[in-house]
Amino acid sequence: MSWRATALTLFPEMFPGTLGHSLAGRALREGRWSLDTLQIRDFATDRHRTVDDTPCGGGAGLVMRPDVVDAACAAALAGGPDRPLVYLTPRGRLMDQALARELASGPGVVLVCGRYEGLDQRVIEARAMREVSVGDFVLSGGEPAALLLLDACVRLLPGVMGGADSAAEESFSDPRGALLEYPHYTRPAVWQGRAVPDVLLSGHHAAVGQWRRDQAEAATRERRPDLWRRLRETQD
Ligand code: ADE
Repeated sequence: MSWRATALTLFPEMFPGTLGHSLAGRALREGRWSLDTLQIRDFATDRHRTVDDTPCGGGAGLVMRPDVVDAACAAALAGGPDRPLVYLTPRGRLMDQALARELASGPGVVLVCGRYEGLDQRVIEARAMREVSVGDFVLSGGEPAALLLLDACVRLLPGVMGGADSAAEESFSDPRGALLEYPHYTRPAVWQGRAVPDVLLSGHHAAVGQWRRDQAEAATRERRPDLWRRLRETQD
């Protein structure tokens, strides 16, 4: 059985989106993973197919009804209840490489995409959804966040990444807490007056390795003091 993703959404046409292209798209066509969508509106029970209602306590926006979302979850899990339910929300824990690895190593994922002000809290709890945010900013819906999460997982599946593991060397893949990647260069050796650093053309593998480690550390220290601190702490 290949890795299986199901997206619950009011906008199924947003899938596979960017995942139909490039590595993920090829892997999808090769059957290394599968993607299906469920239209949440199909689980509404009234004749207006209502999926949302005004927030209890007042305020702006609309909240997605727990009964409708729950029925969609039940349908998604009908084939086997083994996949985790992930609700994309800015209230969630931050997505990171460790979570991508964990989800990619399981049977797949059911992604719940909210619109409006989000889901009624009770269905989040009743279905034991894992709440995940893709960053400290607010999107207009969970769909782009779901695509992003899927991309991060799918590229880790066996046979998806081209060639040998660039995956192992990359930013955030170090289990201890990760350095940002060193900068990359290709030909021409001089472009618009900017030269490729000499060491990279020197043929000295050890010197290249040292330069890359130094560059990765400097970038991490300057751009991501939070990562740098974590790395230092785990080394002590
Ligand atoms: N939905 C809206 N904003 C989001 C975010 N930052 N992460 C995940 N889901 C979201």
